[in-house]
Amino acid sequence: MSSETLHEDSAKLGPEVIDQHRAIVSLMEELEAVDWYNQRAQATSNPELRAILEHNRDEEKEHAAMALEWLRRSDPKLAQHLRTFLFTEGPITEIEAAMEPGGETAAGDASAGGPPDGSLGIGSLRQVAK
Ligand SMILES: [Fe+2]
Repeated sequence: MSSETLHEDSAKLGPEVIDQHRAIVSLMEELEAVDWYNQRAQATSNPELRAILEHNRDEEKEHAAMALEWLRRSDPKLAQHLRTFLFTEGPITEIEAAMEPGGETAAGDASAGGPPDGSLGIGSLRQVAK
């Protein structure tokens, strides 16, 4: 295994952690590419070059989404957080507050993790993905 960004001996990590590392680094690279293309597209005064850079930027977003989805499928805790926060409306910090015991919008028995319907009391903040 060759990676400049592993922080531990690869022999101690195991294949699952190393594959997650690969996906995380890939996601970082894709998002960095989005940022670079975005800046270059904004900065150029050449419309044809801008169109190419914007096209390439948007393809990097697709790549980032694919890497993130792979990570979500391999990491139940990440999946839980993404399920909570993604494709919602309203103040993001209120979503987290609603999940905490005693949160102002949490209904039902907080010690059981939320209301009986399992919605965590944030149903009104969640919107169907467009
Ligand atoms: Fe890419």
